[in-house]
Amino acid sequence: MIPTKLYFGDAMAMLREVLPESRVVVITDENILRLYPNLVTQYEHIAIGCGEDIKCMDTVMHIYGELMAMGADRSTFLLGIGGGIVTDITGFVASTYMRGVAFGFVSTTLLGQVDASVGGKNGVNVASFKNMIGTITQPQFVISDVTMLGTLPERELRAGMAEVVKSAIVGDGELFDYIERCVSDGNCYLSEHLQYMVSRAMNVKMSIVAEDERESGKRRLLNLGHTIGHAIEKLTHDVNHGEAVAMGMSLIARAAVRLGLFSPSDAERVDALLLRLGFYIAPKVPMEEILRATRQDKKKSDEYINIVLPVAIGECVVRKMKFEEFEKLFI
Ligand SMILES: NC(=O)c1ccc[n+]([C@@H]2O[C@H](COP(=O)([O-])OP(=O)(O)OC[C@H]3O[C@@H](n4cnc5c(N)ncnc54)[C@H](O)[C@@H]3O)[C@@H](O)[C@H]2O)c1
Repeated sequence: MIPTKLYFGDAMAMLREVLPESRVVVITDENILRLYPNLVTQYEHIAIGCGEDIKCMDTVMHIYGELMAMGADRSTFLLGIGGGIVTDITGFVASTYMRGVAFGFVSTTLLGQVDASVGGKNGVNVASFKNMIGTITQPQFVISDVTMLGTLPERELRAGMAEVVKSAIVGDGELFDYIERCVSDGNCYLSEHLQYMVSRAMNVKMSIVAEDERESGKRRLLNLGHTIGHAIEKLTHDVNHGEAVAMGMSLIARAAVRLGLFSPSDAERVDALLLRLGFYIAPKVPMEEILRATRQDKKKSDEYINIVLPVAIGECVVRKMKFEEFEKLFI
């Protein structure tokens, strides 16, 4: 695996340093084009719409067509500027157009910076099935300019914080302490703090992916809170991904306490931090429904479930257990 280079700072200046000499085509979305016209329009560009519905093959086909009409060839560099949707699509287009062209990202959402832009997973949804088609291909670089997070709606910013907290619980106890301090000082979203948190969280993900790019083992750790979170997200239309993951992390931390793996005081720290960040930790749907949805989600494999459990703040384990055993942890 060729490691992705991570850069932090002013996107405009960084791009001048890191882009290759070759032709560059930007893929972005309408919001980014509207908010950051100078960044985008200095290159040839293709702007797509916004929202999860456009993360589909129709959009990919549209981009292939535009690239062909421009005469883009194997030497063209594709630069995705946007959140997780733009980078997932750009990575997929780049790894398939003319059997693969080089690509990199300017990641513009907190969730994108700490999660979607790194690790090489890309792809699109098929009907209501998320990320059904895709590849694992690493971008050459990811630029994270935290000043761009200033234009992000507050709810999107908070959703990204759930993934920062997840990274901290999975692999960086010091990061967890840091977030706690920032939250109690009331300045968690200051650029200097965001930059520190983004770089630490990215490093957690990068170091795990370096050991297990294709998710056959250690990479599963990054799913902390996601198994239950996905079920909550499916069942409740007014809860976004980060909010559902926050609930999933709280529930799984308490399950780990019941298993004797995690201390009650650490589980309380997790809940306290999530609450202070503004998350709800109690799902609005009954636990029975969440478990039913989780079981449906997992039916495709077998009666066992791989579950990520915290054993300390900064350390998690993956445990394979029977679904019945898993259910008993919550009832
Ligand atoms: N590939 C991976 O490993 C991975 C990991 C996690 C999530 N994802 C995917 O990421 C996607 C979600 O990503 P997301 O949360 O970044 O959503 P997104 O890309 O839809 O961005 C959220 C919204 O914010 C807008 N936006 C982006 N940057 C902005 C900025 N700086 N200022 C103002 N508005 C801005 C976008 O136009 C969009 O409307 C999902 O499709 C998910 O499946 C992928």
